[in-house]
Amino acid sequence: MEIYTEYSLKTYNTFGIPAVAEFFAQANSIDEIKELLSWKKNKNLFVLGGGSNILLMDKVPGITLQISLKGIEIIQEDNEGWLVKAYAGENWHQFVMHCIDKGYAGLENLSLIPGNVGASPMQNIGAYGVELKDVFHSLEALNVHTLESRVFLAHECEFDYRSSIFKTHEKGNYIITSVNFKLLKNPVFHTSYGAIEQELEAMGIKELSIRAISDAVIRIRQSKLPDPAQLGNAGSFFKNPIISVQHFNKLKEKYTSIPGYPQPNNQIKVPAGWLIEQAGWKGKRLGNCGVHVNQALVLVNYGNASGMEILKLSEEIIQDISSKFNILLEREVNVVGEAKSS
Ligand code: EPU
Repeated sequence: MEIYTEYSLKTYNTFGIPAVAEFFAQANSIDEIKELLSWKKNKNLFVLGGGSNILLMDKVPGITLQISLKGIEIIQEDNEGWLVKAYAGENWHQFVMHCIDKGYAGLENLSLIPGNVGASPMQNIGAYGVELKDVFHSLEALNVHTLESRVFLAHECEFDYRSSIFKTHEKGNYIITSVNFKLLKNPVFHTSYGAIEQELEAMGIKELSIRAISDAVIRIRQSKLPDPAQLGNAGSFFKNPIISVQHFNKLKEKYTSIPGYPQPNNQIKVPAGWLIEQAGWKGKRLGNCGVHVNQALVLVNYGNASGMEILKLSEEIIQDISSKFNILLEREVNVVGEAKSS
């Protein structure tokens, strides 16, 4: 396997930031990952998947390792469905399309999410009423310290809203190499997320199918979310904050139209996009970056932004939302690397 030095990551992150990796390598097999881990010694390790949930600073010290393991296999089949294994380097959307073509139900609401299979459990990706954890069976991961493979079952992953054990107390300790999904022969349709029903109606769909739902999701996403090939972005930049019912009711007195989705433990999830739009940021441009015109939760790179410029914009937004609503927004994207001046 080749190890490159001073390697440009511009085409490896959907924000299109021209960051430079001190060392860069691509692993096509578990053996290549092990080879690289043995070589790296004390160097910093940054594991890269599809690059769709990161904000890179100018340089990434140590080794950037892109996981490119490919393959999709049926592990098991019974009357209810299939256990399907996908390797970490498979493109997420292509995997979803493959499953829809074969009639494996469960992933249709997660169509057109950027990124690779290996990153999907990290942040428990979710969209339109379905989260990865709903279709997840298990995964295999390599311990970066011992080089041993380990299987994680669903309950061991500690899935939560845009979070898992791999983002919390096992952060940096494992490289996910494959994921097993339990997919169904008799689909259970999830259409209650408002926009889907409206879209299916607009499409004139009479008979529901996993293909129809996937098409509806693709149409909604394409109408709201910018295509990274045209306008650099990393999807939702912030998480939707979860606040107490008391706090929500207080905000509701002043902002009667504030949307809120009830959560366990007397809490309410508020769409960060609504807060950011309400605060006047939607469509706003600051230099080389800005807030997307159709979805205020998405920050965009107009072409020449540095990671630091986008980070600063996000900090201004966090401060403004905190002073207007007393809510602390948390970034969903991971900030990686160092700015040149530091
Ligand atoms: N809204 C606004 N203004 C905006 C954007 C949103 O007022 O500019 C309000 C509207 O009230 C809307 C509500 O927010 O009804 C929800 O908006 P939307 O359905 O677009 O979803 P979201 O909460 O903004 C979340 C996920 C998305 C996922 C969609 C659909 C997070 C952080 N984001 O966004 O995930 O596609 O739901 O399920 O949970 C991603 O993680 O990268 C991502 C795109």
